[in-house]
Amino acid sequence: MANAYALGEAASRTTGQVDALFLFITVVSLFFFLLVEGLLIYFAIRYRKRKGAEPSETPDIRGSLFLETVWILIPTIVVASFFYYGYRVFRDIRTPPPGATDIHVVGRQWLFEFRYPDGSSSINELRVPAGGPLKLILSSDDVIHSFYIPAYRLKQDMVPGQYTTLYLHPDKAGTYYILCAEYCGVAHSTMRAKLIVMEPDAYAAWREKKKAPAALSLAEQGKGLVEKSGCLGCHALEGKEKIGPNLGQDFGRKVLLEDGTSVTANEEYLRESILDPKAKVVKGYPAVMPTFKESLSPDDVGAIIAYLKSLSGDKEKDGKEEGEKGVGKEEREGKEAPSAQKGEELAETLGCLGCHSVDGSVRVGPSFEGLFGRQVEFEDGGKATADEAYLRESINLPRAKVVKGFPDVMPEFKGKISEEDLSAIIAYLKTLKQ
Ligand code: CUA
Repeated sequence: MANAYALGEAASRTTGQVDALFLFITVVSLFFFLLVEGLLIYFAIRYRKRKGAEPSETPDIRGSLFLETVWILIPTIVVASFFYYGYRVFRDIRTPPPGATDIHVVGRQWLFEFRYPDGSSSINELRVPAGGPLKLILSSDDVIHSFYIPAYRLKQDMVPGQYTTLYLHPDKAGTYYILCAEYCGVAHSTMRAKLIVMEPDAYAAWREKKKAPAALSLAEQGKGLVEKSGCLGCHALEGKEKIGPNLGQDFGRKVLLEDGTSVTANEEYLRESILDPKAKVVKGYPAVMPTFKESLSPDDVGAIIAYLKSLSGDKEKDGKEEGEKGVGKEEREGKEAPSAQKGEELAETLGCLGCHSVDGSVRVGPSFEGLFGRQVEFEDGGKATADEAYLRESINLPRAKVVKGFPDVMPEFKGKISEEDLSAIIAYLKTLKQ
């Protein structure tokens, strides 16, 4: 089955399930296609009009309960089996696996950013140990993207202003492509990332080599935000309720709403309740909460949700352990001189080359060719020399100085790549002088 459709090897249990379903539908369809077409050809020859034969009358058959029952029953059974089999696989793919590690994934024109429970993040590279299931919480910062892992046969839209989820079972070590499968602008075709699944031992060794992330874990960041944003003025964590519901209640519980309906308190519900609290008001509470749309970034909301999840019962231990020994980013270590070759690799992985050419042609942004040392003119009329300081700023905070004639679309890399990586990229850009 593995390479049946030239889509890559069987990398995950979902691969085999989807392939088997696809094969089943194909074989059954092919069988009926050949049967019907074969009979059609056979009858056309067998009952053709022969030269010199006596004209004969077509028999006038009206109604046959037996025939009608057969041709209704067989197709019904066939399509119902397609549905049932498909539903079983779909249900399995969509069922939350117990103990999954939460990873937030943000799609952005034109890269994927991954945020791990320990507070670290990575761009265009999702590195995980084989074995444990993952829960990806997907969202987008701009337009609709689609998170697609061909080797796992899984695809899920990433929608701005909404969370969608995808469960992964990284069973087999290897490197797999993650592609964007929704046309999202000029550099759509270059929007791709790598899923690197490592053997648990190798992963542990790799983690060991990395410095422990200095940053707070995602849940700890969320705790700080909850305190700072004044949430605790109205929401107690536990014990006596204040104005709103307690925050320490079970994640995933059923919540009864004012309008009589109920919802599951999952990531998407919590996200909506923070940004648009009046959309779903919990029964028995006043609709007085203000929106936090302006004051909290999507990353902040993700951190708060991680914190709320950690408050909820035994998830706390799970979350913490996952966070500590769980997946984390690649912290590039060593103080060797910034190498242009490493910079070139980074420009490739981080997706820079999707928008910036190296041959002088214009894609989305200015070409890298001859960029270093050149005079650049900005949208606001200012000018500068593209020296190290300028390149550093343009990578960290691209919106500070937008080059004249180019769209203001580059995402910020501040805090997302290390100093070493930044230096390596600049060293690489220097080699591209004309
Ligand atoms: Cu993102 Cu196509």
